[in-house]
Amino acid sequence: TSRSSFLIVANRLPVDRTVGPDGAAAWRRSPGGLVTAIAPVMQRRRGAWLGWHGAADELLEPFRDDGMNLIPVPLTSEEVELYYEGFSNSTLWPLYHDVVVPPMIEREMWESYRTVNERFAEAAAEVAEKGAVVWVQDYQLQLVPAMLRALRPDLRIGFFLHIPFPPIELFWRLPWRRELVEGLLGADLVGFQLPGGAANFRMLCKRLLGLPYKSNEIFLEDRAVTTQSFPISVDFAEFDTLVREPHIVHRAKEIRVELGDPEHVLLGVDRLDYTKGIGQRLEAFGELLRDGSVTPGEAVFVQIATPSRERVEEYRRLRDDIELQVGRINGQYSVLGAQPIQYFHQSYDREELAALYLAADIMMVTPLRDGMNLVAKEYVSCHHDLQGALVLSEFAGAAAELRSAFLVNPYDVEGVKRQMLAAMEASPHEVARRMRTMRRRVATYDVDRWASEFLTALES
Ligand code: UDP
Ligand code: G6P
Repeated sequence: TSRSSFLIVANRLPVDRTVGPDGAAAWRRSPGGLVTAIAPVMQRRRGAWLGWHGAADELLEPFRDDGMNLIPVPLTSEEVELYYEGFSNSTLWPLYHDVVVPPMIEREMWESYRTVNERFAEAAAEVAEKGAVVWVQDYQLQLVPAMLRALRPDLRIGFFLHIPFPPIELFWRLPWRRELVEGLLGADLVGFQLPGGAANFRMLCKRLLGLPYKSNEIFLEDRAVTTQSFPISVDFAEFDTLVREPHIVHRAKEIRVELGDPEHVLLGVDRLDYTKGIGQRLEAFGELLRDGSVTPGEAVFVQIATPSRERVEEYRRLRDDIELQVGRINGQYSVLGAQPIQYFHQSYDREELAALYLAADIMMVTPLRDGMNLVAKEYVSCHHDLQGALVLSEFAGAAAELRSAFLVNPYDVEGVKRQMLAAMEASPHEVARRMRTMRRRVATYDVDRWASEFLTALES
């Protein structure tokens, strides 16, 4: 392969290799916000993206897709189980998200995490040009910065954490806390979604390693590491343009008709993940139906729950719980021809999502903890009509910017119900005022701005 002066290193490539029941392989877009954010950045810059292609035990050659150079990094099925489903998604994911479920702490998972991080570091070292900029992404690869620096001290290494960085006392539980922190400190710049995450990290470095810091900088023996927050964002212009296209406008109208032309369409769009607070929002909606505050036919709740990490025990349990809950609420409150919740365990492309966002007058984003939540910003990007109310959890990173959403504490069912009703009853003038403020923010602080601020800080 040819060498690159700009490299993205992430657990996932933007496309996923799937093998159908008939054994035929196909590519499809990978799930989640990381891919949504990095893909447009990569399409606008020359460089390469190193990552796993989503299938186990398969070696693939580098290839081009959608204007990007992609370099697959292989994982064995054992590594998928121990490094990906294990340490990444059963240990770090719940631990960094406020221990919403108990994290597993298992030595063999950690061993596998280290092995795979070493492989990513070696692959990056091999393709990076002299003095190249290498941008490592997210919690799956926290050891890569130090491993890569050891192999290639000439590189400029950045790291961005897409999920929250936890308070010290939670991080402290990890038997390998030292290695993880030292891994991150291999970077020149460590970026976080919010200032609080960066502050947690600096404090941790002081308590754990006795490293001094001053404002944004942590001082090591021979160099300094900059820590800073860079709230990630979406391609505002892409959505803003897309939703003005006649076929999307038409599809949005069609969706409302297909839903029975209710007064209110409420929408949730999430990976089926226990951090997203799907159960909490359905509970609130169920109680509104019970109380008679909303009636079936008058309001329809569309919940898209995209399949995610399906072999991990907690995700299986969550799916069962949510499907039971949907069944119960629908069983109890449906009337002939009107089912209050429309639930989809499916994945949608951006065009259909844009039409759904446009069709929904209430967007429900109620995570118990979320690094940012791009769905909230996508919804805002789509509503140039200034119609549409966003109900947003205070525990989503996006709440720091989208202050004029209908903010909720997802643990407070009464509060969520109150805000849902407030959103449904708000005057068009009030809804427009809130939406206008939020659009101004997302339009100026879009994903290009995010990337260029990070890269400018890294290169300076
Ligand atoms: N998404 C999608 N198809 C779906 C559901 C979600 O393309 O069926 C996209 C969505 O548009 C957003 C991303 O997945 O860009 C989810 O990002 P977010 O930050 O909200 O959450 P994450 O999944 O990263 O936790
Ligand atoms: C979140 C994480 C990403 C991850 C995505 C999808 O956005 O921050 O790193 O890629 O979820 O999860 P998956 O496990 O399918 O990659």
